[in-house]
Amino acid sequence: MSVRIIGPVTLCIFATLIGALFVLISTGSTYAGVACGLVGLFVTAFMYDSAVHGVIRDDASPSSPTIVPPADAVDLLDRPEIDALIEALPQPALIISAGRIARANRAALALLGHHVRGEDVRLAIRHPAVTQHLVGERAGSETVQMELVGIGAANQSWELRIAPLSPNRQIVLLTDQSARQAAEKMRVDFVANASHELRTPLAGILGFIETLKDREAGGDVATRERFLSIMDGEARRMQRLVDDLMSLSRIEAEKFRMPEQMVDIAALAQETASVFHSAGHARAQDISLDLDLSCPPIRGDSAQMNQLIHNLVSNAFKYGRPGTPVTVTVHRDGPDAIQLTVSDEGDGIAPEHLPRLTERFYRVDASRSKAAGGTGLGLAIVKHIVERHRGRLQIESIVGRGTTVSVTLPVPENNSVRPPIASATTRQEALSHK
Ligand SMILES: Nc1ncnc2c1ncn2[C@@H]1O[C@H](COP(=O)(O)OP(=O)(O)OP(=O)(O)O)[C@@H](O)[C@H]1O
Ligand SMILES: [Mg+2]
Repeated sequence: MSVRIIGPVTLCIFATLIGALFVLISTGSTYAGVACGLVGLFVTAFMYDSAVHGVIRDDASPSSPTIVPPADAVDLLDRPEIDALIEALPQPALIISAGRIARANRAALALLGHHVRGEDVRLAIRHPAVTQHLVGERAGSETVQMELVGIGAANQSWELRIAPLSPNRQIVLLTDQSARQAAEKMRVDFVANASHELRTPLAGILGFIETLKDREAGGDVATRERFLSIMDGEARRMQRLVDDLMSLSRIEAEKFRMPEQMVDIAALAQETASVFHSAGHARAQDISLDLDLSCPPIRGDSAQMNQLIHNLVSNAFKYGRPGTPVTVTVHRDGPDAIQLTVSDEGDGIAPEHLPRLTERFYRVDASRSKAAGGTGLGLAIVKHIVERHRGRLQIESIVGRGTTVSVTLPVPENNSVRPPIASATTRQEALSHK
């Protein structure tokens, strides 16, 4: 019991004694005096009990219970958790109270500006569709969701969700839809491009069939031979396209599955070069190999790695100047990576094209690529193979000089410390296919 309770209790006992004495003297009745004394003591006991059990609040006593108002009586905005809560949301979030922005997380401030704190929501989000759900009669009555453009960057699109918190308060969440829409656009473009790539040779083949069906034109042996050869070329182009599309989708399907085989990239580069030689490729003798055969193997898919080297060397053949070397190197790149490069000497690629080269069907010079039988998918396939192998692709080019494509691949941890063996480095200049 604290000093603050002792005071009133002592006063009550003292008042009780005085009162009882006064009643005893004034009435002359002992019973009346005793009764008065008992009532006084009863009141005193009641006061003491109330003080101890909390009806009367005794702030000075740590052991006495503090009477805390129920949680919902504390204003939501005064709760310390509310800032942490909206800050934890990754997307822009606002709490609107009576038409004003009461709270805004960092993402929302970055989007709408720091001045919006406490501002009228109609000024902060100047969008009639939004403000009608935040201010006015129907505000806060139901959860609303809508698509929105015109906030942030010009081409940014948002999904906006307004949920009521209490009669005049709402939470507003903005989710950026740009990435989803870009992916959707890419899918639509891809289908359109693939259809276009297939339709062109198909239209050619159908046209030639029509001509050949004509007795007069089809009867001429030389014309027929010429048309059949063009049809053969177009049909093969379609086949290559379908093959490339299928291999692209297979690589994408395996994107998150790390390959289990161990692949020796230097040996694979050597093998690819000999395949070009044995196939009698017109530029096979231009291949120049500079391979460090002591490079540790990488975790990889050998068929995909083969396709990667093949695509890069094919590009170097196609776009490099005839008779100039196509150099393939494989070397270590620090203790835990190896690097494959394929360089050519040709027209090179202007810098504005470089970021788009790995897009499907992107060609710098479409007619040149098509004339060489290209589908425009070679580098897209390379990019996906590199991604699957957790590697890095880099394309450097100087207009008028040539292009170098580098692929850096990680070496598994247990292989990364192998010391280099200098004597095993070979340089095979201008391999001939004798
Ligand atoms: N080494 C290079 N030198 C100059 N331009 C290149 C080189 N490699 C690629 N390119 C340019 O990049 C474009 C895309 O290359 P990619 O390999 O994806 O397709 P492609 O070679 O046209 O067709 P495909 O590889 O399917 O036969 C090419 O059309 C070409 O314009
Ligand atoms: Mg290519």
